[in-house]
Amino acid sequence: MQATLTILSGDGVGPEVTAQAEKLLTTVATVFHHDFYLPTGLIGGAALEATGEPLPDATLSLCRQSEAVLLGAVGGPKWDTLPGNKRPETGLLGLRKALQVFANLRPILVWPELSGASPLKPEVLSGTDMVLVRELTGGLYFGVPRERRFEDSGLAVVDTLHYTEREMERLIRLGFTMAQGRRGQLISVDKANVLESSRLWREVVERVSIEFPGVQVQHMLVDSAAMQLVKNPRQFDVLVTENLFGDILSDEAATLTGSIGMLPSASLSENGPGLYEPIHGSAPDIAGQNLANPLGTLLSVAMLLRFSLKLMREAEAVERAVRSVVSAGYRTRDLVQPGENWIGTDKMGDKVCQYLREEEQNGEHTI
Ligand code: IPM
Ligand code: MG
Repeated sequence: MQATLTILSGDGVGPEVTAQAEKLLTTVATVFHHDFYLPTGLIGGAALEATGEPLPDATLSLCRQSEAVLLGAVGGPKWDTLPGNKRPETGLLGLRKALQVFANLRPILVWPELSGASPLKPEVLSGTDMVLVRELTGGLYFGVPRERRFEDSGLAVVDTLHYTEREMERLIRLGFTMAQGRRGQLISVDKANVLESSRLWREVVERVSIEFPGVQVQHMLVDSAAMQLVKNPRQFDVLVTENLFGDILSDEAATLTGSIGMLPSASLSENGPGLYEPIHGSAPDIAGQNLANPLGTLLSVAMLLRFSLKLMREAEAVERAVRSVVSAGYRTRDLVQPGENWIGTDKMGDKVCQYLREEEQNGEHTI
């Protein structure tokens, strides 16, 4: 297969983790005889420095001509005081909107090998396997007006929570479809006791549920969902929710796996290129020190292979290699217990590539 996969490394630890993804994609191309073209583009603070814009036109057109886009992370203290439209995050939000990647899938799978790294008890964590399906191009992140303004009483501020029924429906339908392919349980998270948008959300969930008689639906208020996620995470199969709730709950759910560095994500549109990113941020405190965990990015590569390129064998090979490396005891610093050894970002990337090559050569598919 020939494919153009654009890499946007961005800021902070972004370049370090995407460098591992580039090695992995090159390894996959060699082992499975594909031809991947991997152009790079600027986004976020890096783009602001070079061009004055967080999402230069050149980057957007490169992304539009690709089968998929892999992004590291954006943001950092250096740009925190810039006005809203010149912040690195605006580049990422603009890219999500421009590519219309409305569905953000965040799988949260607890591996027993890593449960010691989580603050929760292993018996609470064991068996946790869920996908959080987050709406990504609507809600408070994009609604207008969003502004500061002077009112009679002084300075005031407004953000707007806007959704169309159609935006809700396409995301909710995807949630149902995913639940159908898994354990048939959908938990829809809202704040219907307070928000009008959530009341419409519930109506749409109810209506779409008629098309999926095999899926059992439960509504959960977001405050309660935040509690249930740490109290009894096993009850979640597919969790479907709007943009801001999904942002907050996915960081919370990440602690279940041991480290936010483990979590991949895929952002899908109706028919354009998908956008793949680890869910951790730019982590400026550890940037440039070879300390970041690249596994969330490498698992995002697996999602890219699966969803954008439909290369199922290759996606599974990547996931298997990551799992084998972790089972063999290799850890980055975020995953170790006091006294344990750890390896750097680049070594971890090398190990995954090495395991993938060896497992494919030897046909060792033990996991
Ligand atoms: C995420 C991040 C982004 C978001 C930021 C960087 C804009 O937190 O992908 O979860 O809020 O969506
Ligand atoms: Mg977030």
